[in-house]
Amino acid sequence: MSNVFNGVPTVSLSGGVDIPQLGFGTFQIWPYEAQQAVEDALALGYRHIDTAAAYCNEAQVGAALKAFGMADEIFVTTKLRNADHGREDALRACDESLSNLGINAIDLYLIHWPAPVNDRYVEAWKTLVELQERGMVRSIGVSNFLPEHLDRIIEATGVVPAVNQIESHPRFWQPELEAYCRERGIVVEAYSPLGHGKDIESEPVCAAAERLGVTPAQVVLRWHVQKGHVVLPKSTKPARMKQNMDIYGFELDESEIAAIDALHDPACMVSQDPYTFCAPQTLEDMLARGSVKLEP
Ligand code: A2P
Repeated sequence: MSNVFNGVPTVSLSGGVDIPQLGFGTFQIWPYEAQQAVEDALALGYRHIDTAAAYCNEAQVGAALKAFGMADEIFVTTKLRNADHGREDALRACDESLSNLGINAIDLYLIHWPAPVNDRYVEAWKTLVELQERGMVRSIGVSNFLPEHLDRIIEATGVVPAVNQIESHPRFWQPELEAYCRERGIVVEAYSPLGHGKDIESEPVCAAAERLGVTPAQVVLRWHVQKGHVVLPKSTKPARMKQNMDIYGFELDESEIAAIDALHDPACMVSQDPYTFCAPQTLEDMLARGSVKLEP
């Protein structure tokens, strides 16, 4: 940890780039509401926005950054879709993301999924290395990669990803994968940190909230930061956005952490299986799977 900005400390990524530990997640913030949500988040003090080409809201994130007027001071992450793993596609996709977001360089560019069935993630990783060398992205990493996928890209390039963004919440967290990442200096980012809002109903979470006089969501987000995760909560409601930032003024004790750790249940995954998920993540595909909505 190094600097603190708006109460949120930064974590140093390999390569020297600092990332705010708490970011604003935008998965399933639909295009028609995304600009307002990101403007609200920025006004409340978030300085790290996490999006993806697949979320189909990059242009709205870009519009919010422009309206806010200090885009250079906001840490922006976006991700390469499964359909774009080939070198030429990845180069074009990066250009499109830069143009949608209206920025000169992406702070953190991730391969969204390994999609091992397509077997092109090594090519995608080599292209991200090239994009970093060209200065179009400041740091590079992956999402949803398991140790065998990480081993392969590291062996092929000698370049270790700065982060691995994975599903992580009390009822489904991945201690072995985290240990693998920690040993290699890969920062773990937690997506769906509240388990899509379900994990905040768990008994040990509510008990800790009661003791500390905070909300269950704050307890879960605090559990993440005490584990050293970069954490990416999502909300479209300003009151919750504000609450989700306010997690640095209290501490869970060891017994509370242990009780929350024990909630883990492999059946409680809310996202996709990295071994099998290989959908193209184009707009048509996202619409067909209900992962994007164009109208209220
Ligand atoms: P909403 O957008 O209506 O606020 P995750 O980040 O794990 O995917 O969870 C997101 C879900 O959790 C969303 O449904 C969001 O709803 C809800 N959520 C976000 N912050 C809070 C909070 N502080 N309290 C309760 N629910 C929350």
